[in-house]
Amino acid sequence: MIVGSGAREHTISNAYEKNEGVKRVIITPGNDFMTYNRSKEVIVDKESSLKDAESILRVAEKYKPDIIDVAQDDALAIGVVDLLTEKGFKVFGPTKKAARIEWDKEWSREFMKRNNIPIPEYESFDNEEVAEEYVKKIYEKEPKKLLYIKASGLCAGKGALKTTNVREALENIKMMKTFGEAGKNFLIEEGLIGEEYSYYAISDGKTFKVFKSAQDNKTINDYDEGEQTGGMGAISPARVTEDIEEKIIEEQVRKVIEGMKKEGTPFKGILYVGGIVNNRKIKTIEYNARWGDPECQVVLPALKNDYAEVVEACIEGTLDRINIELDDKARMCVVGALRGYPEDYSKAKNKEVRGIEEVNKKEGITILGAGIKNVEGRILTNGGRIFSIVGEGEDIKEAKKKAYEAMAMISIEGNNLHYRTDIGWRDIERIDEKSVRFINTKVLYSL
Ligand code: GLY
Repeated sequence: MIVGSGAREHTISNAYEKNEGVKRVIITPGNDFMTYNRSKEVIVDKESSLKDAESILRVAEKYKPDIIDVAQDDALAIGVVDLLTEKGFKVFGPTKKAARIEWDKEWSREFMKRNNIPIPEYESFDNEEVAEEYVKKIYEKEPKKLLYIKASGLCAGKGALKTTNVREALENIKMMKTFGEAGKNFLIEEGLIGEEYSYYAISDGKTFKVFKSAQDNKTINDYDEGEQTGGMGAISPARVTEDIEEKIIEEQVRKVIEGMKKEGTPFKGILYVGGIVNNRKIKTIEYNARWGDPECQVVLPALKNDYAEVVEACIEGTLDRINIELDDKARMCVVGALRGYPEDYSKAKNKEVRGIEEVNKKEGITILGAGIKNVEGRILTNGGRIFSIVGEGEDIKEAKKKAYEAMAMISIEGNNLHYRTDIGWRDIERIDEKSVRFINTKVLYSL
């Protein structure tokens, strides 16, 4: 049973489905597209909420699954892993205490500091006036300094506010209140300049294995313009990590797995490093305690091992016996969203999604559902991000060609489909050798 509802969980369900011993996959709360074109029985049970642990337990008790994979951040933060384990289920995912590395950014930064993990300068606050004095002093000395003001709790990816002058700083400090409990404590961090990457490890709490790197494109529009979203696309592998992978593994992965073990909260699950590199120096933007979305869609399919076996080894503490094998394909994920997303997209809800079943039958293409529902046989929109298309190929250009050819076959009633046309542009430019400027040089891209 998989806990979650988006294209990430659809991808995870595909990975479990491949295991010979798996007879059926339950996904809760899931989405209707997850049941399309499957080789095994797939049940989507919507009778749960990711913010209500008891409701997830009720679904688990109904089906009695052999393994439960808690893949979504809200569910991890409310201790779904702890509750299900207590009730005797075999569960994959970090405990509430271990997932704190994601849901409490203040604690997470302190952990990073204690464990000598490379981080930007930061201060924590729980008082608006004290924070205002702090930023005023900073901007007196450096009127255009780049800062991030970040809520400490989970805010669906919207809690980190970019700040480039004192006026914005004061406004953004006030914004923290709007995040409720999540914004009661907040951080003011030095803004990092460089290029972002995502990196993933799986751990049984004692040892870890790594996957291929990825890079996502977070803003709504091409050229990295517009508002931040949950993610509009991703590629894997990402060349940005080419000559720094060893550093990432030693400085950003090993130190977490060893540090958590030493502190008595072993991390069992998927560790997601959000990092940034500039001049071959790496820093940590944040950690998450689960797969990224849309990165999972391009990273997990590269695993040649049986995912269910790797996960079982993590639950049993025998990951050291597993030899992880990854394929050498490149993958690109392009997210189809509703026009209006990430702002108000209510006018585009309940519109028909056309062409998606045809794409589902195409070779080298995977289509994964997110904000989608089936009403009397019609596939309708039901959220901001509707689906993910993943193209795979020998290199990223081939993967791109396939993903965008498939995207061209889909439409949403009333011209309501929006997607970015430039996913993976940094690596595409690097392949074309237009742009060494994006790695290891002074500029370039700020978060
Ligand atoms: N891709 C960003 C996230 O999953 O948090």
